[in-house]
Amino acid sequence: MSIRKIAIIGEPMLHQRASEVDPKDIPTEDLQSLIRDMLETMVAADGVGIAAPQVGVGLRVFIARSPQGPVAVINPAITGRSWRQTKGEEGCLSVPGKFGSVKRHRSVRVKALDHEGRPMEFEARDFFARIIQHENDHLDGILFVDRIRQQGGKPPV
Ligand code: NI
Repeated sequence: MSIRKIAIIGEPMLHQRASEVDPKDIPTEDLQSLIRDMLETMVAADGVGIAAPQVGVGLRVFIARSPQGPVAVINPAITGRSWRQTKGEEGCLSVPGKFGSVKRHRSVRVKALDHEGRPMEFEARDFFARIIQHENDHLDGILFVDRIRQQGGKPPV
């Protein structure tokens, strides 16, 4: 395992849409070491989530801390969103030292593949739901500061 360098806001990779993972690539050493390294990098940086574009890889993979521990999520689709939204403070390993309040759905339903390529479906609530939405945004090239702007707020400077 190794800790990878975290891309900082302004790096093109953070601002573009990541590509779907080919499911047959999931068992490969490349993808498995990416997942292990992302986990190690997230833990070392004391983060609650990390997306592949943040380590310079343009693939639809992220790791999120769930109430049961870290979970690898590949090719996610958000298939359900609660009507209710809540505001909460967010930060990002790629936007060091900045925090701001973002409105997110209170719960989301997610369909994805796990780290072994098995289909999974789960519901995330509260803080875990916030992490999922933040990380899923990374796969679309959206940072939390972009969301704040979209929501009419003033992003932290
Ligand atoms: Ni982030």
